[in-house]
Amino acid sequence: MGIYQPILTERLILREFKEDDWNKIYSYLSDCEVQKYMIQDVASLDQTKSYAQMFLKHMHEEPRKYVRFAVLLKEDSQLIGECGINMPNVQHYEGEIVYRFAKAYWRKGYASEVVKRMLSFGFEELRLHRIEALCDVRNTASIRVLEKAGMTIEGCMREHRFVKGYWRNSVLYSMLEQEFNKGS
Ligand SMILES: CC(C)(COP(=O)(O)OP(=O)(O)OC[C@H]1O[C@@H](n2cnc3c(N)ncnc32)[C@H](O)[C@@H]1OP(=O)(O)O)[C@@H](O)C(=O)NCCC(=O)NCCS
Repeated sequence: MGIYQPILTERLILREFKEDDWNKIYSYLSDCEVQKYMIQDVASLDQTKSYAQMFLKHMHEEPRKYVRFAVLLKEDSQLIGECGINMPNVQHYEGEIVYRFAKAYWRKGYASEVVKRMLSFGFEELRLHRIEALCDVRNTASIRVLEKAGMTIEGCMREHRFVKGYWRNSVLYSMLEQEFNKGS
């Protein structure tokens, strides 16, 4: 397991997906408000099981290219969302952070807490050089999270993805290793 052991933040536990997490994951993947700006549509039970299974399989890859953590509240172990890093180009020391929470837990500062820790995990533990985040230009909540985390906007990727019958414009944010070190 090595560096992929559970991570503790002030209020949260971040640990890799487990076999029986899928029903909790389903509670937010099946919510159209949560999925509104995501590339994936609302998920069925079977799609949720496959989604969770996919990350269980990724755990055995070497080098690791996709890491997903379930986000649990320290106070009652409730699974409230997920976060992680995609590293399909890990040979270039590059990763993309992702995060998503069940609606009942929005606007409590959890995304900010998680993104801060994912950046330190990416730079300090995974030794990445560049971390990106991409989101729909209309996703003001996520844009605020990335701005607050001190990431730099690089621009708008026009009609970047065909999502739910619509050409999505995406904003690209990034942070470099040296910027993280300067800020921490
Ligand atoms: C985007 C998301 C992760 C934000 O999570 P969160 O835990 O509510 O964010 P935080 O509480 O850390 O808030 C961070 C900042 O964003 C602001 N914010 C949060 N939701 C907002 C909203 N709907 N509109 C405007 N600002 C918002 C907060 O006020 C805070 O800014 P402040 O400190 O200046 O007040 C959450 O809404 C979510 O899971 N959405 C669905 C999935 C998703 O879009 N994921 C991101 C894909 S790129």
